[in-house]
Amino acid sequence: MIRIAVLASGSGTNAQRLVEYFRGSDTARVVLLGCDQPRAGVVQRAWALGVPSYLFSGSELRSGSVQRELLAQRIDLVVLAGFMRLIPAHFVQAFPRRIINIHPALLPKYGGKGMFGHHVHEAVIAAGEKESGITIHYVNERYDEGEHLLQVKCRVFPEDTPYSLATRIHELEHANYPAVVGSVIAAIGP
Ligand code: GAR
Repeated sequence: MIRIAVLASGSGTNAQRLVEYFRGSDTARVVLLGCDQPRAGVVQRAWALGVPSYLFSGSELRSGSVQRELLAQRIDLVVLAGFMRLIPAHFVQAFPRRIINIHPALLPKYGGKGMFGHHVHEAVIAAGEKESGITIHYVNERYDEGEHLLQVKCRVFPEDTPYSLATRIHELEHANYPAVVGSVIAAIGP
């Protein structure tokens, strides 16, 4: 059984989708929801879903104690779902091609430090883009730069607000992220 840790900083709707999707799987399970924001909605979701949560600070992430905890818990795959911090190089090296991220835009556009959540949708609309979408990718030591696994596009309409665009993007994320994680797991093998 592949043991997945999901790391999130916000509401956790993607984290919840991942937990529910892999409850129906014989090969993988989300066994831990990690979070760097004690008041984030994902902590409540973890409790409601009955998945252990793991709260940590930015300095614990940078010091290496988070990756040590995940290794101690025999985590095979780390899935970022609205996680806002940079994954340090030593963490990336501890989980080679075993960390996946989802970004709410068509990278390489609208990525990098500070480009998360509503900031991304505000920038896309301010630039007058006609399309946006999602990017699912491996994580390396730089923000939003790892090898792509999947991009899916959607329209941006003239009347869109950051909120309406975020809603459309969330639907795409929920529809695609668990299956892409599943395909990475299938490639890892039992
Ligand atoms: C998602 O849209 C995800 O793509 C984005 O944060 C949102 C989290 O939503 N991630 C980033 O911006 C990473 N740079 P959720 O908490 O409802 O899953």
